[in-house]
Amino acid sequence: MPRLVVTNRAGTTSEIEVGDGLTVMEAIRDNGFDELLALCGGCCSCATCHVHVDPAFFDKLPKMSEDEDDLLESSDHRTATSRLSCQIPFTADLDGLHVTIAPED
Ligand code: FES
Repeated sequence: MPRLVVTNRAGTTSEIEVGDGLTVMEAIRDNGFDELLALCGGCCSCATCHVHVDPAFFDKLPKMSEDEDDLLESSDHRTATSRLSCQIPFTADLDGLHVTIAPED
């Protein structure tokens, strides 16, 4: 199974295996990272699934929608590689993707 590498807010990095058809947000949430609140359940309306993506992978991700861009704009912790993890379907192409959970707004 493809692997996703996650760094939590405390700076601890762990690797999880991701089954088919999950988004990055679902994979993180379902593996016990309680700090990723994902309050809206993945419908791109809360921004509590904000992650910083390793620049090496950023260009491999699907293009950002205007809604996602607007929501990220409301975060004090937006960086050049910020994404909402619910908007990233995890595929085998993304094996080894490294994301860091953004600080809470
Ligand atoms: S879970 Fe709400 S925007 Fe991603």
